[in-house]
Amino acid sequence: MRLDKFICESTELSRAQAKRAIGKGEVTLEGVVVKDPSTKVDDSSEVTYGGRPLRVRGPRYIMLNKPLDTVCTSIEDDYRSVLGLLEIEKAETLHVAGRLDIDTTGLVLITDDGAWSHRITSPKKQCGKRYRVMLAEAVSDDVVERFAEGILLKGERHPTQPARLEIVSSKEVLLTLSEGKYHQVKRMFGALENRVTGLHREQIGNICLDDNLESGEWRYLTEQEINLVD
Ligand code: URA
Repeated sequence: MRLDKFICESTELSRAQAKRAIGKGEVTLEGVVVKDPSTKVDDSSEVTYGGRPLRVRGPRYIMLNKPLDTVCTSIEDDYRSVLGLLEIEKAETLHVAGRLDIDTTGLVLITDDGAWSHRITSPKKQCGKRYRVMLAEAVSDDVVERFAEGILLKGERHPTQPARLEIVSSKEVLLTLSEGKYHQVKRMFGALENRVTGLHREQIGNICLDDNLESGEWRYLTEQEINLVD
């Protein structure tokens, strides 16, 4: 890769700032000052910036406990983006693997590894997402079967994929979906003439939201958690 890209991927500098730093002689390659940003380097090259040895940052994998009134896009209008909660370098290069609505809380996975996030969001992979759902009305006796059979949503031609529903109490359930249609949980309960009053994602595939994370807090995934997405 080019030297300016290497600097950009291993420091807080933008590409333009990296080029300027190289031009000013602040970067060395194998102990020698190099002033050409297009110089070729690889991951094992010994590069320093301002005397500091650099390593290319690997892909990043993060779990965050999404608070209410935040959005999962990078665009901030009236509401804060979850990416803004990270306060880490180059957060704008990250994306959310499976968005939640503004009024949904809980587990959000964030990464810059597109192939990894594709395995979470691709319909073909059928990666399960588990939600704790609070409801306005008590669930009906046949609700487990209705979700297992699939529900025809307004404006759709085919019913939803079979979903697993566990009843916690008359107005609280755990729902596991293997697909991610727009506002799916709310629309499914809407089709049964019920209304979602609280929605919290607890699990994606085999990755569970860490109980130690308060609302708005985040941490990097462990190697083991990263490998749970296959
Ligand atoms: N289903 C919804 O209705 N909203 C979400 O945020 C996630 C799933």
